[in-house]
Amino acid sequence: MKKLQSKHKKLLALLLFLPGTILFLTFISQTTAPEDIKHPGQYIYLGYKDPDVGCARCHGKTGRGSWLSDGPDIRDSIRKEGRDRVREYILHGKGEGDDAMPGFADKLTEEEVEQVLEYITYWEKIDSLVQARESANGMQEDQNAQRR
Ligand code: HEC
Repeated sequence: MKKLQSKHKKLLALLLFLPGTILFLTFISQTTAPEDIKHPGQYIYLGYKDPDVGCARCHGKTGRGSWLSDGPDIRDSIRKEGRDRVREYILHGKGEGDDAMPGFADKLTEEEVEQVLEYITYWEKIDSLVQARESANGMQEDQNAQRR
């Protein structure tokens, strides 16, 4: 009987520990600014300038949308709806009620809005540039490690 109880305790500890770790990792991965962000629009998009404005928390890091919030896939928005309309969404929000997107007119400067627009227009290109640089850095590190 005693054995069983301590087993339960361990299980309970594990159950508490796991979600804690996951939350912690999520937190870390969202608050640590990768040094490799080269585009100012990406910086804003990911929420490093102001977590409230971070589009990624609703639309996902890659714009595919997020099942946790109600943010839709926006990868094609600029092509489909045009830059002007998307600018309006960023400034004044979209939709009504609980599922609406807030506007950020009071949180972003005009220049910052343009930077976000540019990033989400070209983000696949920008992302692949960043990835290419990351893997080039990785290869360099491997070579250095081999030399040592
Ligand atoms: C709090 C969550 C949230 C944040 C933060 C957010 N959005 Fe949204 N966004 C939404 C929701 C929800 C919709 C859908 C609104 C509707 O149609 O009712 C939406 C719609 C959009 C749309 C139109 C897509 C479509 O198909 O309707 C674009 C483009 C967009 N958001 C871009 C952005 C950008 C860029 C940012 C960052 C500056 C951002 N959003 C920040 C929640 C968010």
